[in-house]
Amino acid sequence: MEKKYEQFKGQPRLPKFAVPKRYDINLKPDLVTCKFAGAVKITVDVVTGTKFIVLNAVDLFVDRNSLHFTDTSGCKVSEVLGVELFEEDEIMVVEFPQNLQLGLGVLCIAFEGTLNDKMKGFYRSTYVHCGEKKNMAVTQFEPADARRCFPCWDEPACKATFKITLEVPSELIALSNMPVVDENVDGKIKTIHYQESPIMSTYLVAVVIGLFDYVDDHTSDGIKVRVYCQIGKANQGKFALDVAVKTLGLYKSYFAVPYSLPKLDMVAIPDFAAGAMENYGLVTYRETALLYDDKHSAAANKQRVAIVVTHELAHQWFGNLVTMEWWTHLWLNEGFATWVSYLATDSLFPEWKIWTQFLDESTEGLRWMGLQNHIPLRHGVEINHACEIDEIFDAISYKKGASVIRMLQSYLGPECFQRALASYIKKYACSNAKTEDLWTVLEEESGEPVNNLMNSWTKQKGYPVVSVKLKDQYLEFEQSQFLLSGSHEDGQWIVPITLCCGSYDTCKNFLLQVKSETLDVKEFVGSKDNLVDILIKLFCCCFKKKEDNLVETRAWIKLNVDQAGFYRVKYDEGLASRLRHAIETKCLSATDRFGILDDLYALCMACQQPLASLLTLMGISFKIERIAADAAPELLEYIKQFFISLFQYSTQKLGWDPKQGESHLDAMLRGELLTALAQFGHDITQNEARRRFDAFLNDKNTPLLPPDIRKPAYVAVMQNVSTSNRSGYELLLKVYRETDQSQEKTRILGSLACCSDPDIVLEVLNFLLSPEVRSQDAVYGIHVNIEGRETAWRWLKDNWDHILKTWGSGFLITRFISAIVSPFSSCEKACEVEEFFASRAKPSISRTLKQSVERVHINAKWVQSIQNEKHLAEVVQELAHRKY
Ligand code: BES
Ligand code: ZN
Repeated sequence: MEKKYEQFKGQPRLPKFAVPKRYDINLKPDLVTCKFAGAVKITVDVVTGTKFIVLNAVDLFVDRNSLHFTDTSGCKVSEVLGVELFEEDEIMVVEFPQNLQLGLGVLCIAFEGTLNDKMKGFYRSTYVHCGEKKNMAVTQFEPADARRCFPCWDEPACKATFKITLEVPSELIALSNMPVVDENVDGKIKTIHYQESPIMSTYLVAVVIGLFDYVDDHTSDGIKVRVYCQIGKANQGKFALDVAVKTLGLYKSYFAVPYSLPKLDMVAIPDFAAGAMENYGLVTYRETALLYDDKHSAAANKQRVAIVVTHELAHQWFGNLVTMEWWTHLWLNEGFATWVSYLATDSLFPEWKIWTQFLDESTEGLRWMGLQNHIPLRHGVEINHACEIDEIFDAISYKKGASVIRMLQSYLGPECFQRALASYIKKYACSNAKTEDLWTVLEEESGEPVNNLMNSWTKQKGYPVVSVKLKDQYLEFEQSQFLLSGSHEDGQWIVPITLCCGSYDTCKNFLLQVKSETLDVKEFVGSKDNLVDILIKLFCCCFKKKEDNLVETRAWIKLNVDQAGFYRVKYDEGLASRLRHAIETKCLSATDRFGILDDLYALCMACQQPLASLLTLMGISFKIERIAADAAPELLEYIKQFFISLFQYSTQKLGWDPKQGESHLDAMLRGELLTALAQFGHDITQNEARRRFDAFLNDKNTPLLPPDIRKPAYVAVMQNVSTSNRSGYELLLKVYRETDQSQEKTRILGSLACCSDPDIVLEVLNFLLSPEVRSQDAVYGIHVNIEGRETAWRWLKDNWDHILKTWGSGFLITRFISAIVSPFSSCEKACEVEEFFASRAKPSISRTLKQSVERVHINAKWVQSIQNEKHLAEVVQELAHRKY
């Protein structure tokens, strides 16, 4: 290999001697042989005198004789001296005999490639049509796989226009980012020319070719919107279509810029690694995230469709029109889309109270970040190789990202936040921006120190716990970094503190900018009369202890109102007991109650609070059951009994059958509660589930088993399966094989491993590796009961080579590790896991592995601390006997 190319290798980004302006791409896929031929003419602007052009390409066979460099009218201006592809660096270097002339020129390349089965680049997905198995051709380019389809400057900041031409079998539908301008049929092949796109990044280019049905509609300003799906399922696209049309309208007014393309297509793809992908004008989805079937979809499926559609459409502005400058800003792209998808969904379906469910995102984020092995949102280190980008699409980007954005919006106020966003979109439209660019615009609009505030959240890892104490007339606040492992690291944040005293009308906000701060009651004097009043009562009752009950009732302080802040709160005993009273007397919103509970749960896991204090407050948690199984097996039955009576109480009101006109949330809650009861082994629930399941087997349209209660029924069926009583398992497999509805398949996969018989668990796990389960879906089936975790771990080790081969090139591999390793709770197991992976290290799994092992250590420590808890047994036994 020649020395002169050495300088281009091992570089995180391409040299910009020449930058692309326009791609004219021709692709001709063969869906039978799974090969494709392509040609690209790239108009480049040569900006530096150079003999080299360096661009990305990987897994492509480049025809060296086809390579040439012309002027913009197609006349050859230079010979090509050499071409070299460096697979490892995913680049190709083209060398010319002398320096290229500055200004525009055209690089022409012909190439060939394979439609792979790895769900990235230009790949094949399969479906059955009229009993025949067929291939479709699909692209998935984010983050860095456009280079697997055509040579290009595959970086988000290298924006250009794209003029695409496809040559495909005449009977197929072929879609790309832009509408068709011209189509010529020549026998069995048709050539389709698409309109040239506005300037955009390579990772947003898309092509889909196959047989589809569609439904269509348009917005009031004439944008054509279509939902494409497998033939025969067009009706299932209507819900998403309706959401999309409305959402385009919403975002047009929210961002104060209309959607920038003439059409929007959304397509369900049978094999898809992520949930959905925001390709400009051609959004691709997993089937479960796009299709909604009145008969077979549950309320949770409907909500998922709305969230995913609103998320991907948000990217059409935030991401596609204004694009991150480099992958370090990915968290902003994903965090923002996640946050705004809740805003849009809330506006379309206010009755879903979707923000209460945002808490799931937020607390998931908090939970992740209690681990030491995570990275700050904005990487301190640059990304050095394309394969490192996949790893940053993790819970942190999405969940912490969305949560800190929500905190900021709530601090600045919705109007100010929206005005600033609109001017940010306008300022950076058709170009790229860094995280700081957004903060600067927000800072200008609001006059608040947004840069400093946000840097404290995005540039350091973790988040704080704020401890509050009431001493005499002072409220003391102190922040420290929250870590589940209980260890200490220094971190300091600028925390927007909100607090509310005695009523939601009496609130106070301030920025906690230092480690600790004290609020003097005198500071409140003159600010808000009502507040002073409440505070004085609060202090009185503090001094007088329990003398005045009436005062005590009203005298509570809740921090982090509405859980809008991304921090946890630890109250001193006095404040905590007031809050308990406030909860009992129904003074607090569901969101705030959840917040108190979740903070307590986390503090408990970090061994800063005893388990007993948590149990007296909380309702649902399988995690408690799990940890108790290791820490206090003798109490397990009591704990289960406690949960059963608690859930039974609510289930009695909801029943099994949907009620006419009931709310979306009741429908979801019914499924959750019954699943929990089935999981905890409640006899009556299991028998009823089986009765309904049998009716369903006789008649798939029976009103006895509507979609919202199928999950509990399936879980109950599996709970009773064993090697000597396999019928439930086999019947469930039969339902799986017969349905063509992907949400139904997913639901079944998610229930199969809920079995306590290790032999059955092993059978289920092996089934996941069979051709009957699409590789995109296997991860739904790996969540086993506690009795199955050893089996699952052994299975993971035995099948590691195969698992690595099938999933190793994407991010799904990390799910196998976290799901199977994290449930353990002994240090010996942590060592065993580390030993096993020591010789199997791979950069793409290293962080997940560290996080999972850390979780095992946290669990182990928690087990210890529970075992040392003094009065746990009494509390648990008392709870188990309580009647609700
Ligand atoms: N841009 C992502 C899709 C993606 C993820 C591409 C990972 C490449 C690697 C897309 O906008 C997205 O975030 N999809 C989510 C769904 C969303 C509703 C949170 C997903 O795929 O889970
Ligand atoms: Zn996204």
